[in-house]
Amino acid sequence: MCGIVGYTGGNQAAPILLYGLSRLEYRGYDSAGLCISSDAGLTTVKARGKLANLQELTSQGTALPGVCGIGHTRWATQGDPNDVNAHPHESASGKFAVVHNGIIENFRKLKAFLTAQGVKFASDTDSETIAHLIDFYYKGNLLEAVREATQVLEGSYALGIVSADDPGTIIGVRMCSPLIAAIADGEAFIASDVTAVLKYTRDVYYLDDGEIAVLSPNSVKFYDAYGEPVVKPMAHIDWDADAAQKGGYAHFMLKEIYEQPKVCADTVLARIKGGAVDLTDADIGADYFKDVEKIVILACGTAYHSGIAAKYWLERYARIPTEAILASEFRYAHPIVDDKTLAIVISQSGETADTYAALGEAKRLGARTLAVVNVRGSTITRSSDRTLYINAGPEIAVASTKAYTAQLAALALLTLTAADQRGTLERESNAAILAELQRMPETMQKTLDATAETMQYLATLYFNQSSIFYIGRNLDYAASLEASLKLKEISYIHAETYAAGELKHGTISLIEEGTLVIAVAAHMALFDKLESNIAEVKARGGDVLCITQERCRADPEQVANRVVAIPDVHEMLTPLLSAIPLQLFAYYVALAKGCDIDQPRNLAKTVTVE
Ligand code: G6P
Repeated sequence: MCGIVGYTGGNQAAPILLYGLSRLEYRGYDSAGLCISSDAGLTTVKARGKLANLQELTSQGTALPGVCGIGHTRWATQGDPNDVNAHPHESASGKFAVVHNGIIENFRKLKAFLTAQGVKFASDTDSETIAHLIDFYYKGNLLEAVREATQVLEGSYALGIVSADDPGTIIGVRMCSPLIAAIADGEAFIASDVTAVLKYTRDVYYLDDGEIAVLSPNSVKFYDAYGEPVVKPMAHIDWDADAAQKGGYAHFMLKEIYEQPKVCADTVLARIKGGAVDLTDADIGADYFKDVEKIVILACGTAYHSGIAAKYWLERYARIPTEAILASEFRYAHPIVDDKTLAIVISQSGETADTYAALGEAKRLGARTLAVVNVRGSTITRSSDRTLYINAGPEIAVASTKAYTAQLAALALLTLTAADQRGTLERESNAAILAELQRMPETMQKTLDATAETMQYLATLYFNQSSIFYIGRNLDYAASLEASLKLKEISYIHAETYAAGELKHGTISLIEEGTLVIAVAAHMALFDKLESNIAEVKARGGDVLCITQERCRADPEQVANRVVAIPDVHEMLTPLLSAIPLQLFAYYVALAKGCDIDQPRNLAKTVTVE
């Protein structure tokens, strides 16, 4: 989704802005633009398509002299992706330029008002309204004009603003869309996330809703929505900047798939002490689950799929009634939630607008809240009672892989904690699962080593399929949902998951000679049931690829056309392993099709609009 950068300091701004935008490319976008503010006024350049177009148009930024400016990658919401609708947007007077991430919900009303004042709009966007509003309110004080303009905006916005009257000053504003400010020696930045500035500084400030940052080369000052100064704590980012580089891999997605053993270790190992789970870093004490009567898990996309696995776990092992609900549906579903409900919100970015809104609704209804999040300091962590970090490091590929298995690992720790506190799982069983979770980094590595080549080969056989179906039961169903999402996200092949028992109630009519059906059958107790479903597919000419455990007693090759085995593992933990060959399959299919793997069409990494 849209990315914002801003720079003011002693160096040429445009190359720094272009670099920052390149670090934000992963968020997904369809056009890009820059505005440089100097004594000569504002200069804006925009280009549809990849950032390379803007880089070429500005000779890598060298054609735009000036030491202060703002940049933007746009993911179209209001208005087509073209040069005119790209940001920055200038006000009619040419005095102000604005970049915006979010949606202005009342822009039609505001546009009508401004049009009645004689303002001519150049684009079809909601964002342009903001530039004209600042013009409308401006009486010589930029901060005041921005403050007044934002008072009439409804919706979500992170803004970067420059003015021809104040070269060297940038204003950043945040309301329900992410924005950070950062400082270095004689330089200041704003950005949608820290990856854009990590090369220059690690000292950042996270803006809260309604806050305004005023940047000049030597200072960043913060104000609340009333214009009162605010003192904000500085956060120091301790990630390795290399973590956000490809490190020799062809794509971030492949790198992140291969990082999973290490990430799993980072999620799990420090939280096992004396043979028991210790979640004190998330402030989860010994009584945390004792009076929980119900759990609702709220999330979107991949995070929702880890939530479905956790639903099966929490019900089976901790015996707590649990629902996994799409965050976008929760708010409008009249959910039954009260102060005995624990709402677990799962989000890699911690910024997803629907998940944040669902969290707000759960809080309004009285639920206790726990965030399972990757990005430190993100909006969702700051609004939840507690946060269990998944410690996956920066995930850059749009298609989530390492964050997914890290979410599963964190949720497994949570499940074992809940089961222990409620006495619903025998101590020996709990300890045995925990021991396997502790060994999971090695088991994941074995899975990568054992399946990568095969998945690459299988991808060459199946990349021309027009539809691929996935089936599974219980945890394998949850794993299949994520596997089919992975494939469709990056390869654009139509892919659907069905609960295996449901296939015959309609979808089996789509199976033709040679249709690929991937049967995830890692849950040994349900293998026989799945075997029958596989037979139904084969009887109709379908080609079945079965993912199972090495210990599978039935001869899976008699059952399916092809078999890929993951190492033996306790059935609770199978989704952490079955994910790996299926991620690799999606990756290699997309590679064989020549797709843009890290930045698939139409998708955004962080979806900051509802
Ligand atoms: C987008 C991303 C998905 C992600 C989903 C939820 O759609 O493309 O990969 O799963 O948002 O994101 P979150 O950051 O809340 O986990």
